[in-house]
Amino acid sequence: MTVSIRQVHPVFVGEVSGVDLREPLDRDEVAAIEAGMDRYAVLVFHDQNISDEQQIAFTRNFGQIEDSTGGNVTKPHEKRLNPLMNDVSNLGQDNQPLAREDRRRLFNLGNQLWHSDSSFRAIPAKYSLLSGRVVVARGGNTEFADMRAAWDALDDETRQTAEDLVCEHSLIYSRGLLGFTEFSAEERAMFTPVRQRLVRTHPVSGRRSLYLASHAGTIVGWPMPEARAFLRDLNEHATQPQFVYVHKWRQYDLVMWDNRQTMHRVRRFDEREIRDMRRTTVAGDAPTVEEMRAA
Ligand SMILES: [Fe+2]
Repeated sequence: MTVSIRQVHPVFVGEVSGVDLREPLDRDEVAAIEAGMDRYAVLVFHDQNISDEQQIAFTRNFGQIEDSTGGNVTKPHEKRLNPLMNDVSNLGQDNQPLAREDRRRLFNLGNQLWHSDSSFRAIPAKYSLLSGRVVVARGGNTEFADMRAAWDALDDETRQTAEDLVCEHSLIYSRGLLGFTEFSAEERAMFTPVRQRLVRTHPVSGRRSLYLASHAGTIVGWPMPEARAFLRDLNEHATQPQFVYVHKWRQYDLVMWDNRQTMHRVRRFDEREIRDMRRTTVAGDAPTVEEMRAA
């Protein structure tokens, strides 16, 4: 089979055909998908009825799998899936929807805010791969924003202001936006803010992009309200409709995105329905901020 990719949005996103994710890929297929990621930043694969093991094997073509520890309030003994998988479902270990007041559900509602996966880690994620095992009939779309296109469309003055800024990212900031503010001492320590550059350069294409996320709560050296107002402005700019692709899930879709070049969010759905979504994450290879290495 030959991998082919068709662009499905004016500025990014490719739909991939000619690949069966249940089977091992050869080097040319992996290279074609990587080139597609560099160019389109989001790739959609339809009709991929895969197991967790097949998803993990496919993910390993693109680098090391990120350890999911430390990114959630779900305790290790409460996990439904293999530790190499991030459970982005609305389900408990009994495979039934979590209760409305369940703390894990309330924490996961943060996924409805625009973000880039693992920007709260010192070495943030490269790719995410999300497999729709059971999708809901209405709602639950995932939206993606092209942060390269957002950068390209900024005026020179704002670009100059943003250029060398460093933000602090933490799950405490993003959850705080929804009024989720109660954390144990252990969680507070786990969610200690990390520093990320506000503007990134893609290692292959050389394109610049805004590195935003709801996790970004302040800018180093700026007064807090000024930092938040500026970040809010940039977020508003970056998520205008012309930069956004709306993915309406079909069962067995797999969507793969580059967290260095995009943001995403999930939209509301009826949480009494089962939505079983499983994510694997390719780890990044370095901090975005030089000082992190010196520290
Ligand atoms: Fe996410």
